[in-house]
Amino acid sequence: RMIQQGGLLEYIQTPLDLDEIGGMSNLKKWLNHRKDVFSPEAKAFGIVPPKDVLMLGVQGAGKSLCAKAIATAWQQPLLRLDPSTLYASYIGESEKNLREALRQTEMMAPVILWIDEIEKAFASAASRSADGGLSQRMFGTLLTWLQEHQMPVFVVATANDIEALPPELLRKGRFDEIFFVDLPTQEVRREIFAIHLRKRGRDPVRFDLDALARASQDYSGSEIEQAVIAALHNAYAEKTDLGTETILAALQGSPPLSATMAEKVSALRQWAQGRCVIAE
Ligand SMILES: Nc1ncnc2c1ncn2[C@@H]1O[C@H](COP(=O)(O)OP(=O)(O)OP(=O)(O)O)[C@@H](O)[C@H]1O
Ligand SMILES: [Mg+2]
Repeated sequence: RMIQQGGLLEYIQTPLDLDEIGGMSNLKKWLNHRKDVFSPEAKAFGIVPPKDVLMLGVQGAGKSLCAKAIATAWQQPLLRLDPSTLYASYIGESEKNLREALRQTEMMAPVILWIDEIEKAFASAASRSADGGLSQRMFGTLLTWLQEHQMPVFVVATANDIEALPPELLRKGRFDEIFFVDLPTQEVRREIFAIHLRKRGRDPVRFDLDALARASQDYSGSEIEQAVIAALHNAYAEKTDLGTETILAALQGSPPLSATMAEKVSALRQWAQGRCVIAE
């Protein structure tokens, strides 16, 4: 549902059951510790509530899911800003859109503002841009707002690609926290299979979860879900029920994205070392 015509902001339906997210134990702990810090009591106690986080991670690893988890854990409404919708063809219009989106967000405070794939909108702000400095100015407007806004708006930005991000955004202290959402470990993959089997009305106990978790090394949570869905289709077409073998075949038939971009994934991991909190 869009907030208004022209739709710069999208209202996202939460809550999401936190049990539907496999792994992310550090993130869940972080959220839990901070869930009461927006209260007047916390303020009187001297606590300054967090203002923003950045979720960095490979595609399909669950960043969007994490944004929804925050809104759920803190019981606040969630607004999604897709920065690509801000760009307009008339001069000056794009910046006006951004200011308007931020103004509308503040009007809904306390609220969580999810800026999805932040690097896509401001990518050219990282380099010499070909758009006459527009994305640079947009980025400047956003940065200023991030630093100075007074209303209780908690910002969750997500990004896949640090190389496309302007360095100012990654400076230490710019975000209260940068979380790195890595590919799931074997133990977490097991959990993710169980979650998605349960979602489709299957009892995970009837599956060899260990075999599935082993066979899905380097797969993202999203790719695990896709394998379950593909296997479900195959089983239905063949008039059998879903079984471990069908899912293993689906995994085999669809190699993970991280295999084709191994270098990029490891560069991201390396960068995250020491700079980010591992969401896992
Ligand atoms: N840890 C997880 N536990 C359960 N399901 C997961 C997990 N990670 C991903 N999924 C499944 O994969 C889907 C896609 O994940 P999500 O959209 O959160 O990834 P993303 O990191 O935002 O990817 P993108 O970079 O493509 O935006 C989720 O809706 C969920 O069904
Ligand atoms: Mg996403």
